[in-house]
Amino acid sequence: MSKFDRRDRVRQLLYTSKAVAGIVERDVRMIVGASQYRNSLDRITGILLFDGLRFMQFIEGSDVAVSSLMDRLYADVRHREVIVMHDAAAERRSFPIWSMRWVHLDNAHDARRHTITRMVPGTIDPGVRDQFYGFVAPG
Ligand SMILES: Cc1cc2nc3c(=O)[nH]c(=O)nc-3n(C[C@H](O)[C@H](O)[C@H](O)COP(=O)(O)O)c2cc1C
Repeated sequence: MSKFDRRDRVRQLLYTSKAVAGIVERDVRMIVGASQYRNSLDRITGILLFDGLRFMQFIEGSDVAVSSLMDRLYADVRHREVIVMHDAAAERRSFPIWSMRWVHLDNAHDARRHTITRMVPGTIDPGVRDQFYGFVAPG
């Protein structure tokens, strides 16, 4: 069962940022725990990748809910250099059942690519998919 009608039109936004020094997996686990509760109230869904140094987060929901979350994210001192890579309307959600899925990328690049292939739906915007692959295999 999906949480939302797969056909509901949404705003989808992808950004990257750098974790501030001292942020470890346990901190991210706590951020995600709080985010999942808040996102379910705000009807936000998406995925957060963390490689120990950088974040990539894909969020989707109503225009207002995404703007409100971005305002909070820009103000959050746990990361910096927030760079928006994609911000566009879509016909349906790409992560309809995830109030915020999160993935700690701590393995080799090949396995990371495989993780993206497994977790990112084929229907997602191709530019967004390329950004995910770029994030897990820099250079
Ligand atoms: C990398 C990262 C991802 C985050 N993702 C979310 C999210 O998906 N949803 C959310 O509500 N807060 C998220 N937060 C936390 C927000 O920045 C903010 O602290 C939280 O929403 C509470 O805001 P408030 O204290 O102004 O109510 C994230 C923080 C970081 C550093």
